[in-house]
Amino acid sequence: MRIEKTKQSMNAILEEKRTEGTIGFVPTMGALHEGHLSLVQRSVKENNYTVVSIFVNPTQFNNSNDLETYPRTLEADIALLEAAGCDMVFAPEVKEMYPEPDQRSFDFGDLETVMEGEMRPGHFNGVGQVVSKLFDYVRPHRAYFGMKDFQQVAIIQKLVALLELSVEIVSCDIIREDDGLAKSSRNTLLTPEHRLEAPNIYKALLEAVKFSRELTVKETIQKTIDKINESSLLEVEYFSIVNNRTLQPIKKWEEAENAVGCIAVQAGAVRLIDNIVF
Ligand code: PAJ
Repeated sequence: MRIEKTKQSMNAILEEKRTEGTIGFVPTMGALHEGHLSLVQRSVKENNYTVVSIFVNPTQFNNSNDLETYPRTLEADIALLEAAGCDMVFAPEVKEMYPEPDQRSFDFGDLETVMEGEMRPGHFNGVGQVVSKLFDYVRPHRAYFGMKDFQQVAIIQKLVALLELSVEIVSCDIIREDDGLAKSSRNTLLTPEHRLEAPNIYKALLEAVKFSRELTVKETIQKTIDKINESSLLEVEYFSIVNNRTLQPIKKWEEAENAVGCIAVQAGAVRLIDNIVF
């Protein structure tokens, strides 16, 4: 497995690999866990050459404490990627990705005015900046994203349409801990007490699906929020039931073929997100 730090050194190799077969790409911010690795394994299976980027992108953090405390475990990540069959790791420094400040501003329309876009102003613009640069450097045939970040997948699809890129976006299932908590790099930052309570988020989402057979959308939302807030260590920031394509909140179940319930919960100092398809 190659480890590259610059676009030039990476490009020299990828030029050749591109003529030999398909390139699969998995962008990450490191602190890798089985959720990330499931994307890598799928890319390895579906492509001739797999590139994984590890870069904690400063432009998508709207909270400086979150950026500073974000876990960085490069050596362990490299060992996991080697074992997963990855061919190349791209791990650039900030100066390599942003030799100049990125002034670009993307218009993702209504996709970015709700949920994570509303709660984390500028977040998706930063994601758009870094992913568009990475796509430009790697020029993959396929790129793999997790449904854990449901809204991010929609934003990336919109980015590909806006920039008229030919990369195929592959969305992958959420990988969970045995107790149901969605795997996340931020889980390691939870206190033991918060870690014990955190599985209640997914439990409540499963119950929401049951409620949805009898209750209205509004009632389902309220019951789910109440259920999670029963734990004094968890506080729901939002729980929205949205149309899976437009990401706009629905009022009636019939408004969406597949409604998705998206949630953000503050667990002490750590913010967790999850979602479920109805
Ligand atoms: P990061 O949070 O490191 O996630 C990298 C990829 O792994 C994303 O596509 C995310 O959805 C996926 N992922 C994370 N946890 C998962 C889980 N439990 N199951 C399945 N997939 C999971 O998302 C980012 O980084 C950044 O925003 C990035 C796209 C790299 C741009 O900086």
